Amino acid sequence: MKLGIRLGRMRMKNPTMLASGILCNGSLLKRAAVEGGAGAVVTKSLTREVREGYPTPVVVGVDCGVINAVGLANQGFASYLSEDLPLAKEGRVPVIVSVAAGRVEEFEEICVRAEEAGADAVELNLSCPHVEGHGMEVGADPAAVSRIVKDLAGVMKIPVHVKLGLSDRMIESAVAAEAAGAEAVVAINTIRAMAIDVDARRPVLTNVYGGLSGPAIHPIALRCVFELYRELSIPVIGCGGVSDWRTALDFLMAGASAVQVGSALAVRGIGIFREIEEGIRRYLVKNKFSSVKEVIGIAHGVKR
Ligand SMILES: Cc1cc2nc3c(=O)[nH]c(=O)nc-3n(C[C@H](O)[C@H](O)[C@H](O)COP(=O)(O)O)c2cc1C
Repeated sequence: MKLGIRLGRMRMKNPTMLASGILCNGSLLKRAAVEGGAGAVVTKSLTREVREGYPTPVVVGVDCGVINAVGLANQGFASYLSEDLPLAKEGRVPVIVSVAAGRVEEFEEICVRAEEAGADAVELNLSCPHVEGHGMEVGADPAAVSRIVKDLAGVMKIPVHVKLGLSDRMIESAVAAEAAGAEAVVAINTIRAMAIDVDARRPVLTNVYGGLSGPAIHPIALRCVFELYRELSIPVIGCGGVSDWRTALDFLMAGASAVQVGSALAVRGIGIFREIEEGIRRYLVKNKFSSVKEVIGIAHGVKR
């Protein structure tokens, strides 16, 4: 049974990917590929400067999910690309470098350096819901998305993926990204949310707001993927609340060519990629499909 897929110019041995920000250092990305069986891995979003992130608490568990406001904490792109990327590449699956920036020139600088360092693709994080000037407001502005992607598509040889979050203009932004040269759209990031400690009578997170992830957001992400598949010709990558093979398969049926797994790693461990792969394989065999490609978009009823 063939589970390999093509994501534009990129080939993957199976449609599972590690989502950005969940495992950070290069050796963990390698483990996700080698031990876990992920078909591709995405790095933490890298910024130009080192970012300490917000003071703790930065994560809180809620019913059916997690709210985080890590604040894009990372070591800065330069040291990551020289120290961690080579380790991640030892996993021998595509390594996608996620990039967060406030200005077009910063995106260009980091993406070009990521390409030189051996990244297989870049994923533009235009969707962080809890760091001002670094995400959500950009992804919700189709003109800004177009400007950034056009600039990068003109200089990059590796594929440029765009990660969008939930907004009223998500579809418009995705269409603008495709027209500007993006090779895939990832949907969605976490959804802006908060939690209140009723005993302390104040918000739990020091940043007050964070991003909700996990099973709670899956039906919303599924709807986004379904709509995006109708509007785009480039591949859609589903992200949000994948916790087992069924929630990965419904993304594929909605039109995702691949799925990213994030929060579920904390519950199910690194083996979740292989569990999903095996579950999908069993489903395909049982239902007499000959390849995973046959189920992509099948819930729309018509072949694209
Ligand atoms: C602790 C944590 C850190 C995250 N960091 C990033 C990040 O740096 N860049 C990014 O694009 N998404 C980041 N995300 C969002 C995930 O990549 C993913 O879009 C989101 O969690 C939804 O998927 P899930 O429900 O499978 O977790 C982060 C999520 C969590 C929980």
